[in-house]
Amino acid sequence: MKFLLVAGARPNFMKIAPIMDAFRPHGDRHQVFLVHTGQHYSRNMSDDFFRDLGIPEPDINLEVGSGSHPEQTARIMIAFEPVCLEHRPDWVIVVGDVNSTVACALTAKKLGIRVAHVEAGLRSRDMSMPEEINRLCTDAISDLLFTTDTMADENLRNEGVAGEKIHFVGNTMIDTLRQQISRARQLPLPDGLAPGQYAVLTLHRPANVDSPDRLALVLGAINAIADRIPVVFPVHPRTASRLNGFELHPRIRTVAPMSYLPFLGLVAQSRMVLTDSGGIQEESTVLGIPCLTMRPNTERPITCEIGTNVLVGTDPQRIMQEAHSILDGHTRTGSIPEKWDGRAAERIVDVLLDQPVQTSCRCA
Ligand code: UD1
Repeated sequence: MKFLLVAGARPNFMKIAPIMDAFRPHGDRHQVFLVHTGQHYSRNMSDDFFRDLGIPEPDINLEVGSGSHPEQTARIMIAFEPVCLEHRPDWVIVVGDVNSTVACALTAKKLGIRVAHVEAGLRSRDMSMPEEINRLCTDAISDLLFTTDTMADENLRNEGVAGEKIHFVGNTMIDTLRQQISRARQLPLPDGLAPGQYAVLTLHRPANVDSPDRLALVLGAINAIADRIPVVFPVHPRTASRLNGFELHPRIRTVAPMSYLPFLGLVAQSRMVLTDSGGIQEESTVLGIPCLTMRPNTERPITCEIGTNVLVGTDPQRIMQEAHSILDGHTRTGSIPEKWDGRAAERIVDVLLDQPVQTSCRCA
Protein backbone atom coordinates (compact mmCIF):
# COMPACT_ATOMS: atom_id res chain seq x y z
CA MET A 1 0.00 0.00 0.00
CA LYS A 2 0.99 3.62 -0.45
CA PHE A 3 0.56 6.22 2.32
CA LEU A 4 0.88 10.00 2.27
CA LEU A 5 1.72 11.23 5.78
CA VAL A 6 0.99 14.94 6.27
CA ALA A 7 2.65 17.43 8.62
CA GLY A 8 2.42 21.19 8.51
CA ALA A 9 2.90 22.97 11.80
CA ARG A 10 5.18 22.70 14.81
CA PRO A 11 2.98 20.45 16.99
CA ASN A 12 2.62 17.96 14.11
CA PHE A 13 6.30 17.09 13.88
CA MET A 14 6.51 15.25 17.23
CA LYS A 15 3.43 13.26 16.22
CA ILE A 16 4.68 12.07 12.82
CA ALA A 17 8.25 11.14 13.85
CA PRO A 18 7.31 7.85 15.56
CA ILE A 19 4.85 6.97 12.77
CA MET A 20 7.67 7.27 10.21
CA ASP A 21 9.81 5.02 12.46
CA ALA A 22 7.06 2.44 12.88
CA PHE A 23 6.61 2.15 9.11
CA ARG A 24 10.34 1.59 8.53
CA PRO A 25 10.42 -2.23 9.08
CA HIS A 26 7.63 -2.55 6.48
CA GLY A 27 9.47 -0.54 3.82
CA ASP A 28 9.90 -3.53 1.50
CA ARG A 29 6.13 -3.90 1.05
CA HIS A 30 4.67 -0.45 1.70
CA GLN A 31 5.60 3.08 0.65
CA VAL A 32 5.29 6.18 2.83
CA PHE A 33 5.69 9.68 1.37
CA LEU A 34 6.10 12.58 3.79
CA VAL A 35 4.25 15.76 2.78
CA HIS A 36 5.13 19.05 4.52
CA THR A 37 2.50 21.68 3.77
CA GLY A 38 4.81 24.57 4.72
CA GLN A 39 2.23 26.03 7.16
CA HIS A 40 5.23 26.56 9.46
CA TYR A 41 8.41 27.38 7.57
CA SER A 42 10.81 29.29 9.85
CA ARG A 43 13.93 27.40 10.90
CA ASN A 44 12.94 27.46 14.57
CA MET A 45 9.31 26.45 13.88
CA SER A 46 10.10 23.61 11.46
CA ASP A 47 13.64 22.61 10.34
CA ASP A 48 15.02 22.45 13.90
CA PHE A 49 12.30 19.93 14.81
CA PHE A 50 13.15 17.71 11.83
CA ARG A 51 16.81 17.78 12.88
CA ASP A 52 16.15 17.12 16.60
CA LEU A 53 13.77 14.26 15.86
CA GLY A 54 15.74 12.69 13.00
CA ILE A 55 12.78 13.05 10.61
CA PRO A 56 13.90 12.63 6.97
CA GLU A 57 13.53 15.54 4.55
CA PRO A 58 9.92 15.73 3.32
CA ASP A 59 9.36 14.08 -0.05
CA ILE A 60 7.05 16.93 -1.00
CA ASN A 61 6.87 20.50 0.35
CA LEU A 62 3.76 22.48 -0.58
CA GLU A 63 5.35 25.73 0.72
CA VAL A 64 2.01 27.42 1.43
CA GLY A 65 3.26 29.78 4.19
CA SER A 66 1.13 32.02 6.40
CA GLY A 67 -2.23 33.66 5.68
CA SER A 68 -5.68 34.09 7.16
CA HIS A 69 -7.16 30.76 8.24
CA PRO A 70 -9.54 30.35 5.27
CA GLU A 71 -6.83 31.48 2.87
CA GLN A 72 -4.19 29.16 4.32
CA THR A 73 -6.60 26.20 4.40
CA ALA A 74 -7.65 26.81 0.81
CA ARG A 75 -4.06 27.17 -0.41
CA ILE A 76 -3.11 23.86 1.18
CA MET A 77 -6.09 22.15 -0.51
CA ILE A 78 -5.18 23.53 -3.92
CA ALA A 79 -1.53 22.51 -3.55
CA PHE A 80 -2.33 19.05 -2.14
CA GLU A 81 -4.75 17.95 -4.88
CA PRO A 82 -2.09 17.44 -7.62
CA VAL A 83 0.07 15.52 -5.11
CA CYS A 84 -2.82 13.12 -4.46
CA LEU A 85 -3.52 12.78 -8.18
CA GLU A 86 0.11 12.05 -8.96
CA HIS A 87 0.75 9.59 -6.13
CA ARG A 88 -2.70 7.96 -5.87
CA PRO A 89 -2.19 6.82 -2.28
CA ASP A 90 -4.28 4.17 -0.56
CA TRP A 91 -4.38 6.32 2.57
CA VAL A 92 -3.73 9.90 3.60
CA ILE A 93 -2.70 10.11 7.26
CA VAL A 94 -3.23 13.43 9.07
CA VAL A 95 -2.33 14.28 12.68
CA GLY A 96 -3.55 16.79 15.27
CA ASP A 97 -5.83 19.76 14.68
CA VAL A 98 -4.04 22.43 12.65
CA ASN A 99 -5.19 23.94 9.36
CA SER A 100 -3.02 21.47 7.42
CA THR A 101 -4.88 18.59 9.10
CA VAL A 102 -8.35 19.56 7.92
CA ALA A 103 -7.19 20.85 4.52
CA CYS A 104 -5.47 17.60 3.52
CA ALA A 105 -8.21 15.39 4.98
CA LEU A 106 -10.87 17.22 2.98
CA THR A 107 -8.85 17.17 -0.24
CA ALA A 108 -8.17 13.44 0.03
CA LYS A 109 -11.76 12.58 0.88
CA LYS A 110 -13.11 14.57 -2.05
CA LEU A 111 -10.81 12.55 -4.31
CA GLY A 112 -12.12 9.26 -2.90
CA ILE A 113 -8.94 8.52 -0.91
CA ARG A 114 -9.29 7.03 2.56
CA VAL A 115 -8.25 9.24 5.49
CA ALA A 116 -6.79 8.23 8.86
CA HIS A 117 -6.78 10.84 11.65
CA VAL A 118 -4.25 10.52 14.46
CA GLU A 119 -5.36 12.24 17.70
CA ALA A 120 -9.06 12.06 16.84
CA GLY A 121 -11.98 12.76 19.16
CA LEU A 122 -10.55 15.58 21.30
CA ARG A 123 -13.19 18.25 21.97
CA SER A 124 -13.03 21.61 23.73
CA ARG A 125 -16.67 22.40 22.79
CA ASP A 126 -15.39 25.90 22.01
CA MET A 127 -16.21 26.81 18.42
CA SER A 128 -14.26 30.06 18.70
CA MET A 129 -11.07 27.95 18.59
CA PRO A 130 -9.89 27.36 15.01
CA GLU A 131 -8.58 23.95 16.14
CA GLU A 132 -12.04 22.81 17.32
CA ILE A 133 -13.47 23.45 13.84
CA ASN A 134 -10.54 21.52 12.36
CA ARG A 135 -11.07 18.56 14.74
CA LEU A 136 -14.81 18.32 14.11
CA CYS A 137 -14.50 18.51 10.33
CA THR A 138 -11.58 16.07 10.13
CA ASP A 139 -13.23 13.49 12.37
CA ALA A 140 -16.54 13.72 10.52
CA ILE A 141 -14.94 12.53 7.25
CA SER A 142 -12.15 10.21 8.45
CA ASP A 143 -12.29 6.46 7.79
CA LEU A 144 -10.01 5.53 10.68
CA LEU A 145 -9.90 7.50 13.92
CA PHE A 146 -6.95 6.90 16.24
CA THR A 147 -7.54 8.20 19.76
CA THR A 148 -5.28 9.08 22.68
CA ASP A 149 -7.76 8.31 25.47
CA THR A 150 -11.13 6.72 26.07
CA MET A 151 -12.88 10.07 26.60
CA ALA A 152 -12.12 10.80 22.95
CA ASP A 153 -13.67 7.45 21.97
CA GLU A 154 -16.79 8.44 23.87
CA ASN A 155 -16.95 11.85 22.14
CA LEU A 156 -16.79 10.15 18.75
CA ARG A 157 -19.41 7.54 19.60
CA ASN A 158 -21.72 10.30 20.87
CA GLU A 159 -21.33 12.03 17.50
CA GLY A 160 -22.43 8.84 15.73
CA VAL A 161 -19.04 7.57 14.51
CA ALA A 162 -19.19 3.81 13.91
CA GLY A 163 -17.32 1.87 16.61
CA GLU A 164 -15.23 -0.12 14.10
CA LYS A 165 -13.59 3.07 12.81
CA ILE A 166 -12.33 4.08 16.27
CA HIS A 167 -9.03 2.69 17.60
CA PHE A 168 -7.72 3.69 21.02
CA VAL A 169 -3.98 3.49 20.46
CA GLY A 170 -2.34 6.01 22.83
CA ASN A 171 -0.39 9.17 22.15
CA THR A 172 2.29 9.46 19.46
CA MET A 173 3.56 12.76 20.89
CA ILE A 174 4.31 10.85 24.09
CA ASP A 175 6.08 8.14 22.03
CA THR A 176 8.47 10.91 20.97
CA LEU A 177 8.80 12.30 24.49
CA ARG A 178 9.75 8.89 25.85
CA GLN A 179 12.28 8.36 23.09
CA GLN A 180 13.94 11.76 23.52
CA ILE A 181 13.69 12.63 27.22
CA SER A 182 17.12 11.39 28.30
CA ARG A 183 18.84 13.35 25.48
CA ALA A 184 16.78 16.43 26.39
CA ARG A 185 17.76 16.26 30.08
CA GLN A 186 21.47 16.21 29.16
CA LEU A 187 21.34 19.58 27.40
CA PRO A 188 22.46 22.56 29.49
CA LEU A 189 19.75 24.89 30.81
CA PRO A 190 19.90 28.53 29.70
CA ASP A 191 22.54 30.52 31.68
CA GLY A 192 21.75 31.17 35.30
CA LEU A 193 18.86 28.70 35.62
CA ALA A 194 18.92 25.85 38.12
CA PRO A 195 16.64 22.78 38.04
CA GLY A 196 13.37 23.36 39.93
CA GLN A 197 14.11 27.08 40.34
CA TYR A 198 12.24 28.60 37.39
CA ALA A 199 8.85 28.53 35.66
CA VAL A 200 8.19 28.18 31.91
CA LEU A 201 5.60 30.31 30.09
CA THR A 202 4.14 29.78 26.61
CA LEU A 203 1.37 31.90 25.14
CA HIS A 204 0.14 31.88 21.56
CA ARG A 205 -3.62 31.23 21.34
CA PRO A 206 -5.36 33.94 19.31
CA ALA A 207 -7.93 34.26 22.15
CA ASN A 208 -5.15 35.24 24.59
CA VAL A 209 -2.70 37.21 22.49
CA ASP A 210 -4.75 38.88 19.74
CA SER A 211 -6.67 41.06 22.22
CA PRO A 212 -4.42 43.61 24.00
CA ASP A 213 -6.82 43.69 26.99
CA ARG A 214 -6.72 39.92 27.47
CA LEU A 215 -2.95 39.82 26.99
CA ALA A 216 -2.53 42.59 29.59
CA LEU A 217 -4.55 40.59 32.15
CA VAL A 218 -2.51 37.44 31.64
CA LEU A 219 0.84 39.24 31.62
CA GLY A 220 -0.15 41.15 34.77
CA ALA A 221 -0.53 37.83 36.58
CA ILE A 222 2.78 36.55 35.20
CA ASN A 223 4.55 39.75 36.33
CA ALA A 224 3.28 39.10 39.88
CA ILE A 225 4.45 35.46 39.75
CA ALA A 226 7.90 36.61 38.58
CA ASP A 227 8.31 38.36 41.96
CA ARG A 228 8.68 34.86 43.40
CA ILE A 229 10.33 32.84 40.63
CA PRO A 230 12.15 33.59 37.36
CA VAL A 231 10.03 32.86 34.26
CA VAL A 232 11.46 31.68 30.92
CA PHE A 233 9.22 32.74 28.03
CA PRO A 234 9.95 31.36 24.53
CA VAL A 235 7.91 33.78 22.43
CA HIS A 236 5.84 32.41 19.54
CA PRO A 237 5.92 34.61 16.39
CA ARG A 238 2.18 35.34 16.72
CA THR A 239 2.81 36.70 20.24
CA ALA A 240 6.08 38.52 19.49
CA SER A 241 4.45 41.21 17.39
CA ARG A 242 1.88 41.87 20.12
CA LEU A 243 4.25 42.29 23.07
CA ASN A 244 5.36 45.81 22.09
CA GLY A 245 4.28 48.29 24.72
CA PHE A 246 3.91 45.75 27.54
CA GLU A 247 6.26 46.12 30.46
CA LEU A 248 7.54 42.72 31.51
CA HIS A 249 9.04 41.99 34.93
CA PRO A 250 12.86 41.90 34.72
CA ARG A 251 12.78 38.27 35.88
CA ILE A 252 10.71 37.25 32.83
CA ARG A 253 13.31 36.11 30.30
CA THR A 254 11.98 36.23 26.74
CA VAL A 255 13.75 33.95 24.26
CA ALA A 256 13.12 32.96 20.63
CA PRO A 257 10.96 29.85 19.99
CA MET A 258 13.01 26.82 21.03
CA SER A 259 13.44 23.59 19.16
CA TYR A 260 12.12 20.31 20.55
CA LEU A 261 14.99 18.96 22.65
CA PRO A 262 16.01 22.11 24.53
CA PHE A 263 12.36 22.96 25.20
CA LEU A 264 11.59 19.47 26.51
CA GLY A 265 14.67 19.66 28.76
CA LEU A 266 13.57 23.10 29.98
CA VAL A 267 10.05 21.92 30.88
CA ALA A 268 11.24 18.64 32.43
CA GLN A 269 13.43 20.49 34.95
CA SER A 270 11.09 23.40 35.70
CA ARG A 271 9.08 24.05 38.84
CA MET A 272 5.89 24.61 36.86
CA VAL A 273 4.56 25.50 33.42
CA LEU A 274 2.07 28.25 32.58
CA THR A 275 0.65 27.75 29.11
CA ASP A 276 -2.23 27.97 26.67
CA SER A 277 -0.84 25.18 24.48
CA GLY A 278 -2.60 21.86 23.91
CA GLY A 279 0.38 19.52 23.72
CA ILE A 280 2.22 20.93 26.75
CA GLN A 281 -0.71 19.91 28.96
CA GLU A 282 0.00 16.31 27.96
CA GLU A 283 3.79 16.52 28.10
CA SER A 284 3.78 18.05 31.60
CA THR A 285 1.41 15.33 32.81
CA VAL A 286 3.84 12.63 31.68
CA LEU A 287 6.82 14.54 33.13
CA GLY A 288 4.99 15.05 36.47
CA ILE A 289 5.45 18.84 36.24
CA PRO A 290 2.59 21.06 37.52
CA CYS A 291 0.84 22.81 34.62
CA LEU A 292 -1.51 25.81 34.79
CA THR A 293 -3.51 26.08 31.58
CA MET A 294 -4.64 29.64 30.94
CA ARG A 295 -7.75 28.87 28.91
CA PRO A 296 -11.45 28.59 29.79
CA ASN A 297 -11.61 25.00 28.50
CA THR A 298 -9.46 22.13 27.34
CA GLU A 299 -9.87 19.41 24.73
CA ARG A 300 -7.55 17.30 26.91
CA PRO A 301 -9.59 16.93 30.15
CA ILE A 302 -7.83 13.68 31.05
CA THR A 303 -4.72 15.75 31.97
CA CYS A 304 -6.81 17.60 34.58
CA GLU A 305 -8.66 14.50 35.76
CA ILE A 306 -5.64 12.29 36.42
CA GLY A 307 -2.58 14.34 35.46
CA THR A 308 -0.86 17.49 36.75
CA ASN A 309 -2.89 20.02 34.77
CA VAL A 310 -5.17 22.68 36.31
CA LEU A 311 -7.43 24.76 34.11
CA VAL A 312 -7.10 28.30 35.51
CA GLY A 313 -8.77 30.39 32.81
CA THR A 314 -7.54 33.94 32.29
CA ASP A 315 -8.61 35.57 35.57
CA PRO A 316 -5.34 37.01 36.99
CA GLN A 317 -6.39 36.32 40.60
CA ARG A 318 -6.97 32.65 39.87
CA ILE A 319 -3.71 32.30 37.92
CA MET A 320 -1.73 33.91 40.77
CA GLN A 321 -3.53 31.89 43.47
CA GLU A 322 -2.79 28.55 41.80
CA ALA A 323 0.82 29.54 41.04
CA HIS A 324 1.42 30.60 44.66
CA SER A 325 -0.08 27.34 45.85
CA ILE A 326 2.44 25.39 43.71
CA LEU A 327 5.31 27.59 44.89
CA ASP A 328 4.18 26.94 48.49
CA GLY A 329 4.68 23.24 47.80
CA HIS A 330 1.08 22.13 47.22
CA THR A 331 1.51 20.02 44.11
CA ARG A 332 -0.15 16.83 43.02
CA THR A 333 1.77 13.99 41.51
CA GLY A 334 -0.88 12.81 39.05
CA SER A 335 -0.77 9.63 37.02
CA ILE A 336 -0.16 8.83 33.37
CA PRO A 337 -3.09 8.02 31.07
CA GLU A 338 -3.49 4.46 29.78
CA LYS A 339 -1.42 3.51 26.69
CA TRP A 340 0.80 6.63 26.86
CA ASP A 341 3.57 4.07 26.92
CA GLY A 342 5.67 4.88 23.85
CA ARG A 343 4.01 2.35 21.53
CA ALA A 344 1.10 4.28 20.00
CA ALA A 345 2.71 4.60 16.55
CA GLU A 346 3.33 0.83 16.36
CA ARG A 347 -0.35 0.22 17.12
CA ILE A 348 -1.39 2.73 14.44
CA VAL A 349 0.78 1.11 11.77
CA ASP A 350 -0.50 -2.37 12.76
CA VAL A 351 -4.09 -1.22 12.25
CA LEU A 352 -3.31 0.51 8.94
CA LEU A 353 -1.48 -2.49 7.49
CA ASP A 354 -4.38 -4.69 8.48
CA GLN A 355 -6.86 -2.73 6.30
CA PRO A 356 -8.08 -4.25 3.04
CA VAL A 357 -6.69 -2.78 -0.17
CA GLN A 358 -9.30 -0.56 -1.80
CA THR A 359 -9.93 -1.53 -5.38
CA SER A 360 -11.75 1.57 -6.62
CA CYS A 361 -10.60 5.13 -6.05
CA ARG A 362 -12.18 8.08 -7.81
CA CYS A 363 -8.78 9.69 -8.28
CA ALA A 364 -7.34 6.58 -9.97
C1 UD1 B 1 -0.74 27.14 14.56
C2 UD1 B 1 -1.92 26.19 14.83
C3 UD1 B 1 -2.05 25.96 16.33
C4 UD1 B 1 -0.76 25.49 16.92
C5 UD1 B 1 0.34 26.47 16.57
C6 UD1 B 1 1.68 26.04 17.10
C7 UD1 B 1 -3.83 26.30 13.30
C8 UD1 B 1 -5.24 26.72 13.20
N1 UD1 B 1 -3.18 26.75 14.37
O1 UD1 B 1 -1.06 28.39 15.10
O2 UD1 B 1 -3.05 24.98 16.56
O3 UD1 B 1 -0.90 25.39 18.33
O4 UD1 B 1 0.42 26.58 15.15
O5 UD1 B 1 2.68 26.95 16.79
O6 UD1 B 1 -3.35 25.60 12.44
N2 UD1 B 1 4.97 32.45 11.62
C9 UD1 B 1 6.34 32.53 11.49
N3 UD1 B 1 7.02 31.40 11.11
C10 UD1 B 1 6.42 30.23 10.88
C11 UD1 B 1 5.02 30.15 11.02
C12 UD1 B 1 4.32 31.26 11.39
O7 UD1 B 1 6.94 33.56 11.69
O8 UD1 B 1 7.11 29.26 10.55
C13 UD1 B 1 4.21 33.64 12.03
C14 UD1 B 1 3.46 34.29 10.91
O9 UD1 B 1 3.52 35.65 11.10
C15 UD1 B 1 2.02 33.82 11.14
C16 UD1 B 1 1.97 33.65 12.64
O10 UD1 B 1 3.28 33.24 13.01
O11 UD1 B 1 1.12 34.72 10.63
C17 UD1 B 1 0.98 32.60 13.11
O12 UD1 B 1 1.22 31.34 12.45
P1 UD1 B 1 -0.02 30.38 12.04
O13 UD1 B 1 0.53 29.14 11.45
O14 UD1 B 1 -1.01 31.17 11.25
O15 UD1 B 1 -0.74 30.07 13.36
P2 UD1 B 1 -0.18 29.67 14.78
O16 UD1 B 1 -0.63 30.74 15.72
O17 UD1 B 1 1.27 29.33 14.73
